[in-house]
Amino acid sequence: MSFLSEIERRRTFGIVSHPDAGKTTLTEKLLLFGGAIQEAGAVKSNKIKKGATSDFMEIERQRGISVATSVLAFEYNGIKINILDTPGHKDFAEDTFRTLTAVDSVIVVIDVAKGVEEQTEKLVKVCRMRNIPIIVFINKMDREGKDAFDLLDEIEQKLSLKVVPLSFPIGMGYDFKGIYNIWEKNINLFTGNSKRDIEETIKISELSDSKLNNIIGDHAAETLREELELVEGIYPKFSKESYLNGDLQPVFFGSALNNFGVRELLDCFVSIAPKPRPKQSEERIVNPCEDKFTGFVFKIHANMDPNHRDRLAFIKIVSGEFKRNTPYLHVRHKKKLKFSSPNAFFAEKKEIVDISFPGDIVGLHDTGNFKIGDTLTEGESLNYKGVPSFSPEHFRYINNADPLKSKQLFKGIDQLMDEGVAQLFTLDLNGRKVIGTVGALQYEVIQYRLEHEYGAKCSYENLNVHKACWIEPESTNHPEFIEFKRVKQRYLATDKQGQLVYLADSVFSLQMTQQKYPSIKFHLTSEY
Ligand code: G4P
Repeated sequence: MSFLSEIERRRTFGIVSHPDAGKTTLTEKLLLFGGAIQEAGAVKSNKIKKGATSDFMEIERQRGISVATSVLAFEYNGIKINILDTPGHKDFAEDTFRTLTAVDSVIVVIDVAKGVEEQTEKLVKVCRMRNIPIIVFINKMDREGKDAFDLLDEIEQKLSLKVVPLSFPIGMGYDFKGIYNIWEKNINLFTGNSKRDIEETIKISELSDSKLNNIIGDHAAETLREELELVEGIYPKFSKESYLNGDLQPVFFGSALNNFGVRELLDCFVSIAPKPRPKQSEERIVNPCEDKFTGFVFKIHANMDPNHRDRLAFIKIVSGEFKRNTPYLHVRHKKKLKFSSPNAFFAEKKEIVDISFPGDIVGLHDTGNFKIGDTLTEGESLNYKGVPSFSPEHFRYINNADPLKSKQLFKGIDQLMDEGVAQLFTLDLNGRKVIGTVGALQYEVIQYRLEHEYGAKCSYENLNVHKACWIEPESTNHPEFIEFKRVKQRYLATDKQGQLVYLADSVFSLQMTQQKYPSIKFHLTSEY
C-alpha cells in the first residue's frame, strides 16, 4: 500500500466523557465490532473507584491498566482505527488534555439521564479551542432519561456546540423501541433481552410507509414522524465540511451496554472522521504527507516494574514514516537517537514494529531523555506547539524527609515532572520547591513513587495558593514590571521551563494585582 493510502486510511481519536457515562463500555463495543476482541469484559475500566484515594494498590492497578489501554488499535472495513485512552478521573484531567493534542477527532459520550456533566464540559471546551471535530453519542437509552430535544438543547447551551441529530430514539427506557437512523434511513429495533445480540435492522425508505406502523405501533409511528419533522425544521442539514471544521456536531443515540447504535456510530465515524490532520509547529504547519518523519511526545508512562526505571514515551507521528533503528533528531537535546524496539499497540497486545505512519502512535523505551512536548524529526529543528500546562488546583511545599537521599529525591521529582504527573515551581525568594497538581490524589502518587522507584522520602507542607499565572510583561524593563517584581517577590516562582509564574493566594489578590499592573498579562496556561 502506498504511503498516501496508509495516511488516508487512518483515524486517530479519543473518547471523552464524565466518569460512568459509558466510555469503557463503548470502547469495548467498538473493539468487538472491529473483531479486535472476542468477548465483552476484555477491556478493563481504568477508573479509580470512588473512595480509593488512599489505596496505593488501586493507583498501581490504574497505572497498569492505563499502559495497556493507552492506545487501542484495530481495523474496520480497511480503516486503521487508533483509539487513544483518556482518563475520566478528574485528578488526571491534565493527562486527558495532553492526549487531546494527539487526536484528530473525538467522540463525546453523554449519559441520557445525567445530561452534560462537569468533566464533559471541561474536555469539550479544550476540543473546541483546538477545533477538533466532535461526534456526540447519547448513551443508556435503555434507561429513563431526559427528553431528546431537551437534551440536545442542553448540549448546545452547556457545550456551546451546534448539533445535528443523525439518529433519533423511538421511545426511551421501558418504552425504548429502537432508533431511526437518519444517516442511513433505516430503523434499528431493540430487542433488549440479550446484551450480546446485534439488533435487527429494518430498512424503511419512506417515513410515511405503513410498515412503520406495523412494526412499532400507530402511536409510536405517529410520534416519530412528528419528531423527525421537528428535527428537520430545527436543526441544520448535516455537512461533512462543517463537522470537520468543528462548526457542526453530529449526534447519535444508543446503548453501548446493549450494543445498540454502536455500529451506526462506527460506520458513520469511519466515513466522516478526519484522517491525520496537518499540525502547527512553532516554525510552520507540517503536513502528514511530507516524506520526512516528524512526531511529538504527548504522554510518558513509567513502567510497572519498580526495579527498572525505564519509561515508555508515546509519540504521535505527524508526518513521514517512522522506522525502527533509524537515527532521529531529539530537537530539545540536539542529539540523534535510534530506537531498536518501537512498540505499536493493538487491542490486547503491543508489538515491535518496523514502520509506522502518520496518525499512528509508537511507544519508545526511554531512560529519561524525553519530556512531554518533545519533538523528534529527521534533522529539521522543529518544535510542536500545543502541549500546554494548565494552572494546578492544589499547591504544597515539598520537603526532603531523608537528608541522605537528596540526590535521589531531586532526580525523582525531575523525572516525575517530565512525565507530567504534576508541576514544579521554585520560589524566587528562597528556592523552596512547590508541587502543583490537578487533584489531591497526585500527592500520594508522587510520595509513593518517590519512595518505591527512587528510594527517596518526602513530606508536604500546605501552601495557600489559589492559581498559578504565567506572566507576560510588555517588556522586561517596563517600570510597571520592575515594580511588580519588587512588590510581589514573595509570590513569584519559576516553572520547570524557566518561565516566570505568579502564585496568587486568592481570587481577590489576583484581581487586584491585574488591576494594579495593567501592562502585564496573567495567563492560566503556560502557552499563550
Ligand atoms: P466510563 O468508562 O465512562 O466511566 O463508564 P463505563 O463504561 O465503565 O460504564 C459505567 C456504568 O454504566 C457501568 O455500570 C456500565 O455497565 C453502565 N453502562 C454503560 N453503557 C450502558 C447502557 O447503554 N445502558 C445501561 N443501562 N448501562 C450502561 P456499572 O454498574 O458501574 O459497572 P459494571 O459492574 O456493569 O461493570
